[in-house]
Amino acid sequence: MRSQYAHADGINFSTRKWVRPEDMNANGSLFGGSLLRWIDEEAAIYAIIQLGNPHVVTKLISEINFEASAREGDLIEMGLVATEFGRTSLTMRAVVRNMITRKTILSIERIVFVNIGPEGVPVPHGYTEITYDRDRMPHADEMPNRDED
Ligand SMILES: CC(C)(COP(=O)(O)OP(=O)(O)OC[C@H]1O[C@@H](n2cnc3c(N)ncnc32)[C@H](O)[C@@H]1OP(=O)(O)O)[C@@H](O)C(=O)NCCC(=O)NCCS
Repeated sequence: MRSQYAHADGINFSTRKWVRPEDMNANGSLFGGSLLRWIDEEAAIYAIIQLGNPHVVTKLISEINFEASAREGDLIEMGLVATEFGRTSLTMRAVVRNMITRKTILSIERIVFVNIGPEGVPVPHGYTEITYDRDRMPHADEMPNRDED
């Protein structure tokens, strides 16, 4: 049974970035590749928190609609919301906004992450609802490449 969530509703713009010189393209505006790296990382963190598993991978990023840009020194904010809990996957919607111009920089309708097991193949995650807490946070001993503290 899959759960559906309303599209824009519930997006929490939890991460902000200060656009710096190394984030620019040759035209003097924000480089799309920088933005995609930030969104992919943001989506990975969101998926880890939702699925309680540090071993998640990007499966699909749907059409990316770059609607506006940002300049050096602008502040931008990124938000994600889970739109569908599959058996082994989690689908999210992403929106990035320019806090200075108040324009939407981009929206991505579907970002799909897959929950990976110890054998490196998809495994069921067992979740159907969004958590707004940290109740599924992985334990330290589940984290990759981590020795005992
Ligand atoms: C992720 C990976 C393990 C999935 O393998 P797979 O053979 O497609 O696995 P499955 O067919 O069992 O599908 C797994 C889930 O992904 C979903 N999925 C597969 N292909 C999809 C696609 N094109 N679009 C959306 N969802 C897709 C399936 O519906 C399934 O979800 P569900 O269990 O919730 O229904 C494999 O594709 C992989 O390793 N990809 C590389 C991932 C990676 O390295 N990402 C980092 C960027 S390089």
